[in-house]
Amino acid sequence: MKTIFITGASSGIGRATVNHFAERGWNVVATMRSPEQETEFITIDNVLVLRLDVEKEDTIQTALAEAIQRFGKIDVLLNNAGYGTMGLIEVATDEQIRRQFEVNVFGLIHMTKAMLPHFRSNQEGMLINISSMGGKVTFPTMSLYHSSKFAVEGFSESVSYELASQNIKVKLIEPGAINTDFGGRSMEFFFNDALEDYKPFTTAFLGKLGEMEKQPSYASPPEIVAETIYQAATDGTSQFRYVVGEDAKMLIHMKENTNEEEYLTNIAQHFS
Ligand SMILES: NC(=O)c1ccc[n+]([C@@H]2O[C@H](COP(=O)([O-])OP(=O)(O)OC[C@H]3O[C@@H](n4cnc5c(N)ncnc54)[C@H](OP(=O)(O)O)[C@@H]3O)[C@@H](O)[C@H]2O)c1
Repeated sequence: MKTIFITGASSGIGRATVNHFAERGWNVVATMRSPEQETEFITIDNVLVLRLDVEKEDTIQTALAEAIQRFGKIDVLLNNAGYGTMGLIEVATDEQIRRQFEVNVFGLIHMTKAMLPHFRSNQEGMLINISSMGGKVTFPTMSLYHSSKFAVEGFSESVSYELASQNIKVKLIEPGAINTDFGGRSMEFFFNDALEDYKPFTTAFLGKLGEMEKQPSYASPPEIVAETIYQAATDGTSQFRYVVGEDAKMLIHMKENTNEEEYLTNIAQHFS
């Protein structure tokens, strides 16, 4: 029986992944910031619910120790916890800027570092990081989120070389728009109407975004990401990247196969 350790398991992609692996007989360590609010997972035998905030090193260490004590061995770490930011960089506070990286980048790196001694002592392991199509392509007003996910991409690629020497595989998931709480409670906005100079730009951008979000095909269900994570964990291949969703496939393909200036102009025009 294999074990997966998941961060950000309270909702969305993390939650769907807990269910997907548990239904297939895996032990699942479902970590979250507020485990006292969890009512469903605590009733499932092979799911262990633990407190973990990726910004708090002590909660990482405690959760890991408890998980190893309960299941003996962890086979896969899924770094999923994360949130988004949207707004004008001139308006973002230093705290908002740093926190985007504290959670999406440093939290992921700290979690990974904490897990590696266990993987090394097992002489095997797998690290699956949730990036985003936003780790490959960019949209206006999401500079902090995109730069955090570009960092996750670079970290994952580079660390894969040294971890291969320890029989630890690294995989990266790049979902497109997924129907979760991400655009709601997991999105921090910083726009400021007082900055008149940006007004035409932000009004046009937010209008286009609103139109896009109304389209029924805008977002895929989180279960398709869970299914892809399961495939990544079990397919036995050395495939590194898994792109999820038609929007992500189309945009990444377009970026990789179009002249860069032309591509950036297309995106700018799309949102203006
Ligand atoms: N939805 C999309 O369109 C989309 C697309 C591409 C990539 N992604 C990525 O997918 C991942 C999951 O997002 P989602 O779409 O499933 O959104 P979600 O439903 O809002 O889930 C986000 C999860 O991250 C957790 N989290 C936030 N900060 C945390 C922290 N400091 N420590 C531990 N957990 C923390 C949240 O926990 P709480 O319940 O405690 O807030 C929640 O469980 C993120 O990395 C996101 O960037 C999402």
